[in-house]
Amino acid sequence: MNADSSSPAKQPSPTAENGQPDIVLECQQVSHWFGDNKVLNNVNLRIARGQIVALVGPSGSGKSTLLRAILGTHPPKSGQVVMDGAPYRKPHRDRGIVYQRYSLFPFLTAEENVAFGPMLDQTSIPFRVFQFPKWRAQRADQLRQAGELLDQVGLGHAKRKYPSELSGGMCQRVAIAQALIMRPKLLLLDEPFGALDESTRESLQLMLLHLYQENIDARAKHQPEPHTILIVTHELNEALYVSDRILGLSQYHQGGSEGATIVYDKPAPIFQPHEERDHVRFNQQKEMLLKSVFSDEFIQHHSEFVSFWSEVASERQQLSH
Ligand SMILES: Nc1ncnc2c1ncn2[C@@H]1O[C@H](COP(=O)(O)OP(=O)(O)OP(=O)(O)O)[C@@H](O)[C@H]1O
Ligand SMILES: [Mg+2]
Repeated sequence: MNADSSSPAKQPSPTAENGQPDIVLECQQVSHWFGDNKVLNNVNLRIARGQIVALVGPSGSGKSTLLRAILGTHPPKSGQVVMDGAPYRKPHRDRGIVYQRYSLFPFLTAEENVAFGPMLDQTSIPFRVFQFPKWRAQRADQLRQAGELLDQVGLGHAKRKYPSELSGGMCQRVAIAQALIMRPKLLLLDEPFGALDESTRESLQLMLLHLYQENIDARAKHQPEPHTILIVTHELNEALYVSDRILGLSQYHQGGSEGATIVYDKPAPIFQPHEERDHVRFNQQKEMLLKSVFSDEFIQHHSEFVSFWSEVASERQQLSH
């Protein structure tokens, strides 16, 4: 993957107006197991508003299990997940998810597929029947919003097409727009581009960077960042490219027989548009990830490479001097 001069700039992780991180999601001592198979072991994690976080780890380390716990469909066996300060154990529209295999309604156009969630959310069947004029106005508004989101994900030209007329990459963009229209506080993506070919995958990565740019624009206007994203990917280049923070979940650490935990948590390389990417740093981090997250020979204490928040704090301290 080459540096793309049209890529939006990555910037250091955001903080709220008071300079403190604005934490959207917290996993507190999250553990999960299936029978005798202990999968997650004391996962502790804080994600701030506006962060785009990539989660990597060996196959079977529990990435999807962790995402399901965060989504709320499969709450952890012990520990808790907290959103905006409130613990929860059920799904809610504040958390959206997109999987590798999109599930669109084949009989609805792209626009109607995207507008489907708000329709269910905002209106009931009696409302649609007995308050038809109001419903029509609301429906027009939902379709307008859906159209805007499809523009945003680069599908403005295909609003009226049916899924059978769209490529896999286009369907995946519709699925992402479908999740975004619900304005989730946290968007979870579980290997969303895994089934796509290389060039389609790159264009979707760029789409994620454009969402990131919207965060940067909002921050510049002192508005809340619209997108907080946790993306699972097994592609390390992708993780380094699209995120501003990388998490590694792995069973390879001291005490790993008790399940996987966070063994890596660091900022991702930051680059500016029109600038060559710092490939030295990019490759160094990739090698470190391979060693500390994926190697069953390099066994470390799990907190050895977990330094995201301390690095942010020292950066902030340096800036204030
Ligand atoms: N419903 C289930 N019942 C029993 N075991 C399960 C269930 N779901 C997951 N597991 C087990 O939990 C472990 C973690 O699975 P999970 O799917 O979370 O891993 P993953 O990191 O997402 O893997 P991959 O990278 O292959 O997607 C695996 O050993 C898996 O077999
Ligand atoms: Mg998985």
